Amino acid sequence: MRAFIHKALNLTALLTIVFACDSDLSDDAIPLAPFDPIQINLTLPTYVSLMSTGGYTAINSGGTRGIILYRKDISTVLAFERNCSYQPLNACATVEVHSSGLYMNDACCNSTFRWEDGNPTGGPAWRPLVQYSTSLNGNVLTITDQILN
Ligand code: FES
Repeated sequence: MRAFIHKALNLTALLTIVFACDSDLSDDAIPLAPFDPIQINLTLPTYVSLMSTGGYTAINSGGTRGIILYRKDISTVLAFERNCSYQPLNACATVEVHSSGLYMNDACCNSTFRWEDGNPTGGPAWRPLVQYSTSLNGNVLTITDQILN
């Protein structure tokens, strides 16, 4: 009996590992953390990449796990939460910009997200990344915790 229980437990552990990265449509709610508006002067050297279309950078302040910023066009910078939308409570559920610069990804289970709207394009994620409201006034970018999606 004991051996049977032991085997059953081992099997459960194995299945948990195997299926941990499969799509889970009953996933945890995405945690939200209110934050005060963040103002960034894009002429500062740290943010210079955001001065041209297609540029991006990540900041560690704001959101649950920081924010990825993407210069969409001359008048728009998009702001995405870095907490992955798939199994967001996982310690490793943090999104980065892929080394190609063409999209965002979470190396945890290899979910990928597109710049346009943070929607998933591959991997187990099925919800978009949380997108925060931004406004650009000259070279001053303001990000608020108002959620757009
Ligand atoms: S936590 Fe696995 S893909 Fe994001």
